[in-house]
Amino acid sequence: MIQKNDELEVEIVDNGFEGEGIAKVDDFVIFIPEAIAGEKVKIKIVKVNKKIAYGKLLGVLKSSEIRVVPDCETYSKCGGCNLRHIDYQASLEMKKNAVKNTLRKALKRDVAINDMMAMENPCYYRNKLQYPVGVNENGELVMGVYASRSHRIVPTTDCKIQNQDCQKVAQDCFAFMKAHSISGYNEANGTGLVRHIIVRIGVKTDEIMVIFVLNSWDLPYQEEFIKTIITQNPKVKTIVKNLNNKNTNVILGRENQTIYGDGFIYDYLGDKKFKISPLSFYQVNPIQTVKLYQRAVEYAELTGEETIFDLYCGVGTIGIFASNKAKQIYGIETIENAIKDARENAKINNIQNAEFFVGDVENVLPQFLEERKIKPDVVFLDPPRRGCDRTAVQTLLEITPKRIVYISCNPASLARDLSLFEEKYEIQKISLCDMFPGTGHIESVVKLEVKGE
Ligand SMILES: C[S@@+](CC[C@H](N)C(=O)[O-])C[C@H]1O[C@@H](n2cnc3c(N)ncnc32)[C@H](O)[C@@H]1O
Repeated sequence: MIQKNDELEVEIVDNGFEGEGIAKVDDFVIFIPEAIAGEKVKIKIVKVNKKIAYGKLLGVLKSSEIRVVPDCETYSKCGGCNLRHIDYQASLEMKKNAVKNTLRKALKRDVAINDMMAMENPCYYRNKLQYPVGVNENGELVMGVYASRSHRIVPTTDCKIQNQDCQKVAQDCFAFMKAHSISGYNEANGTGLVRHIIVRIGVKTDEIMVIFVLNSWDLPYQEEFIKTIITQNPKVKTIVKNLNNKNTNVILGRENQTIYGDGFIYDYLGDKKFKISPLSFYQVNPIQTVKLYQRAVEYAELTGEETIFDLYCGVGTIGIFASNKAKQIYGIETIENAIKDARENAKINNIQNAEFFVGDVENVLPQFLEERKIKPDVVFLDPPRRGCDRTAVQTLLEITPKRIVYISCNPASLARDLSLFEEKYEIQKISLCDMFPGTGHIESVVKLEVKGE
């Protein structure tokens, strides 16, 4: 019987979805972060549930050949990455196998993965940095990343996934705060001023936006602060204050004040231009996003004559990306502001053949079909992690568009939805895109063709 604080030597028999090692002892399945299949390791049990336990890696007794020395000093403390102890190519193989296994379980057969779109340089890819600012146990100002499953801030100076220009801007802001005794937020009692420093970059335009998330509007030395940051970082095009004085884990409040520049920046995905405002969603790895969208458009086999539904469209990026090759695009998305951005993005790109609708796909889609009597030829489906709503799948099965291109950030919900679509569709191709190197996440693109066509 396994108990908390037991120290054991175990063989790692598999890797789980987040890259964690899996061992089996006395009917218990033990999950051990940073352990790799094939290794023998020494662990300490930190948590025990009924038949599941969690271990902490104490030492590697027999090492896997895919183990590497993590390139990040804060790796074992930070909650961000979880695959930096594995060779990049091997981590891709691990993700591919994890997707294959998940699909096999749901579809009861093996399905081939046609391609894995890797990153040439899997570092510094994120275009949006959000560092919490606070106080440490000695009452000193800190900025960095949250430790795994906690709100303790681990100071960080070289995060391997954040854009390096953004990191420099954040460090310069932090240095100014320190030099001028500007306080960080104390979660314990709700005092202190700066809660987060957010830095976003348009990697194609080289425009940077800085957002100070504050506990009150009053930022001391504001003019000097602005001057220092823009002088040290000429790419900074706008600086915004955001008010968040609530006791909440949500990072951004609703109100913004632009204190320098226009309050937004632009970026390009392919040849399409997108506006990025403080609250607007934008894919965080633009290099891989372009590859993902290109593959989605390729799978859609567009001739220019198709009516396309872009379901779960966010700020309209996929539809806008595909708009040159389509007759008409209709996007549906639940967040009203995202639809505002989608409409504006269409305008910026002078796109006349895209319309966007606010609401839940499961409600808006049947209404739209009923009112407009339009049937799509191709559907892009890009749902959140939980996958598609059952009603939405049912509606699509009823109207049976010729082709569905399903983009998914969660293999488990993808597998479940594909098993439903298989009633009328053939899974023709699957590509994976490594949008978040160093982490266990993986994006899939699936081409579904109606059977018998
Ligand atoms: C994975 S994101 C895709 C965004 C966009 N397609 C892109 O590539 O950036 C999923 C989107 O679905 C939206 N969403 C979640 N549930 C929804 C629902 N029931 N109906 C419509 N949109 C929904 C979310 O707000 C989010 O913007």
